[in-house]
Amino acid sequence: THGIPDKRNAHPHSSGKITIVHNGIIENYEGLKASLLNKGYNFISDTDSEVVAVLLNDLYQNDDLVSAILKLKDILKGSYALVIMCEDYKDKLFAIRKDSPLLIANDDDSSYVASDILAFANRNSHYSIIEEGDLAILESGKITVLDSTLKQKKRKIITFDGDINLVQKGGFFSFMQKEIWEEKDVIKKILAKYGDLSKLEKEFNFLKDCRKIDIIACGSAYHVGVAFKYLIEEFANIEANVEIASEYRYKKNFLGKDDLAVFISQSGETADTLASLRKVKEQNIKTLGIVNVVGSSIARESDKVIYTLAGPEIAVATTKAFVAQLLTLTLITLYLAYTRNTITEEYLNKTLLELNNLDEKIDELLNRDYSNITDMLKNKDNIFFIGRNIDYAIALEGSLKLKEISYIHSEAYAAGELKHGTISLIEENTPVIALITKDSIKDKTMNNIKEVKARGAYVIAISNELKEQIDNYIMIPCDNEFILPILSVIPLQIIAHDTARLKGCDIDKPRNLAKSVTVE
Ligand code: G6P
Repeated sequence: THGIPDKRNAHPHSSGKITIVHNGIIENYEGLKASLLNKGYNFISDTDSEVVAVLLNDLYQNDDLVSAILKLKDILKGSYALVIMCEDYKDKLFAIRKDSPLLIANDDDSSYVASDILAFANRNSHYSIIEEGDLAILESGKITVLDSTLKQKKRKIITFDGDINLVQKGGFFSFMQKEIWEEKDVIKKILAKYGDLSKLEKEFNFLKDCRKIDIIACGSAYHVGVAFKYLIEEFANIEANVEIASEYRYKKNFLGKDDLAVFISQSGETADTLASLRKVKEQNIKTLGIVNVVGSSIARESDKVIYTLAGPEIAVATTKAFVAQLLTLTLITLYLAYTRNTITEEYLNKTLLELNNLDEKIDELLNRDYSNITDMLKNKDNIFFIGRNIDYAIALEGSLKLKEISYIHSEAYAAGELKHGTISLIEENTPVIALITKDSIKDKTMNNIKEVKARGAYVIAISNELKEQIDNYIMIPCDNEFILPILSVIPLQIIAHDTARLKGCDIDKPRNLAKSVTVE
């Protein structure tokens, strides 16, 4: 968060006998740094984290370590998960947190502390979450947790029940590729839980009387939110607003007591989404978390949580968790549409049956050869994605996937908006990837394709129906409008992956990005 990513700014940070690692952001670090500089301390890095090390070193001059850590907690503003080492306590680690996740586990001869269970799940799958205000003291094979009054506490033990093999690459080129290939199984898992009318009734009945929805999320989860808005408005007649969490947390909302705020998050720890949830809860508005990571902050703090069952996702660029979120919200829409008589039971059952039989269609998309597209895209500087309605939501995700891992500039536009400025960027052979699956507005999107074609664009269409005027075509083998968005994102994920691979990019760890953004 502070300074360029180089060795100097990398953790751990040390001062005197103190060494720390920090996840989070210290908001008052500038003032603290100024007074520590006045006191004669030196700083090596540009980070806020080093200020924590220096400040604790300073406090430790006049106090025992535990008292110094307690004072440190009072002084720091912002969010932190901190693990502290001190030369005088060679066999111990000290850990505290505020608004950032921190988990601990121990067995007979080891102790573990990490921000994410996946860091040590292959060694110890029974873990506890450190609560805010706790101080955890780790020794080998033993962890003591003290609450804010320094009373010893036992924290609940949670068992990680995910498949540990999911955190191995298993012969795939990258975790991202493996996770795209896991989508079929994720879909099966979700349908096993929600895939018939009685199950839908059991799991989603509490949503039946909902009047208005605000949907709040970041990144790809926000794109799922855009899709959900289109679905729930059209099929369940429920008014929905979708907002980026970093905006929502600082603006007014107009929700009342019969309304619902829905928070979508893979990690369940995204700082802005979590802050928005806490804000809405203060207004006594009902909250629902659509979350992948079990027991995460958003899952724990939402009034209700629906887990998306995607299993651990390692690659920074989300794929299977996106599909899981989209499918879960599609099932909620189907159920609410049915309860509001906008679709019949027969149509609902037909769609569920088709969802239950997607394997062949997904295999076809996974095994298709996209090399004529990726070979061309890898040499481009600008790529545009267009679509209308729910196709626009998928276009947003396709564009983000491509740019975040291949570093090729790309943008997604609601197809009708391109002509209000951006069309001036279309040159001979500028790639435009057009999603055209939504029946009612296909012709409108085609008009926009004609506009870009006339300016020289090279158009790749993703559609279930071949139209003229197109240079390249990815056929989606499906006619059901609830299922088409789920299928159309798969080729976009593969194209992003393969283009990044051709460019030699670090697919699973793209530069400057983090999987779980626990800072504002
Ligand atoms: C990061 C990830 C994205 C993700 C976003 C929201 O930017 O790289 O893939 O969509 O955070 O994360 P969340 O865990 O809340 O879904």
